Amino acid sequence: MTTLTYQERFKTLQGVFDEFTNRTLFELQSRDYFDELVSPLLIGKESNVFLASKGKGIVIVKIYRIQNCDFNRMFEYIKKDPRYEFLQKHRRQIILAWTQREYKNLIRAQKAKIHVPEAITFMNHVLVEEMIGDTEPAPMLKDTKPKDPKNFFALILEDMKKLYDEGLIHGDLSPFNILNYKENYTKDNI
Ligand SMILES: Nc1ncnc2c1ncn2[C@@H]1O[C@H](COP(=O)(O)OP(=O)(O)OP(=O)(O)O)[C@@H](O)[C@H]1O
Ligand SMILES: [Mg+2]
Repeated sequence: MTTLTYQERFKTLQGVFDEFTNRTLFELQSRDYFDELVSPLLIGKESNVFLASKGKGIVIVKIYRIQNCDFNRMFEYIKKDPRYEFLQKHRRQIILAWTQREYKNLIRAQKAKIHVPEAITFMNHVLVEEMIGDTEPAPMLKDTKPKDPKNFFALILEDMKKLYDEGLIHGDLSPFNILNYKENYTKDNI
C-alpha cells in the first residue's frame, strides 16, 4: 500500500470535484470551518461525505449531489445552448435550498434536544457538521447491533416524539441513518 501525502490526497480528491465545488470548499477552508479534506467516508444516497481535519479534531463535510452522472452529461450539452442559460442558476438555487433545509432542520432538532450532529455551517451545496464519534465516525446501526435493543429503541422513540412536537418528521429513518455511538444513538439526518 502506498501512503499519499496530503497534497497528493487532496489533488486526487480535488480532481473529482467540479469547479463550483472546489470554489465552495476553498471558501469554507479560508473561513476556517475546516483545515483539510482528509478522506472520503461514504458515498451516500444524495451526497458524498468526507472527513476533514479541524485543529486536532475532525468534522464532516457533506457535499450534495443533486444530479446523477447522466444528468451531468446532459447538462454539459445543454448549458452551451443560450436558450438554457437559466438552468445553471436554477440548478444552484435548488442545491442551495436543499442544503439550507438540512442545515435548518438540524438546528431545529438540536434546539429540541434531539440527538443529531451539530450543524456548523453550510455554503452552496456543502454542509459542515460535527462528526459523531471520537477518533473515528460512529458505525451505522445496521453494522453494530445495540447490546440492549429495547433501550436503544426507546431512545429513538423518545426523539421521534420530540421531533414530531417540533413539527418535523424523519422521512428516512433507517439503520443506515442511525449511528450507534457508544450504545447511545444519533440520527445523522432528518
Ligand atoms: N455527522 C456524522 N458523523 C459521523 N458519520 C456521519 C455523519 N454524517 C454522515 N455520516 C456517515 O455518512 C453516511 C451518509 O451520510 P447521510 O446519511 O447524511 O447522507 P446521505 O445518505 O447521502 O443522505 P440521506 O440519508 O439524507 O439521504 C451516514 O450513514 C453515516 O454513516
Ligand atoms: Mg443516509
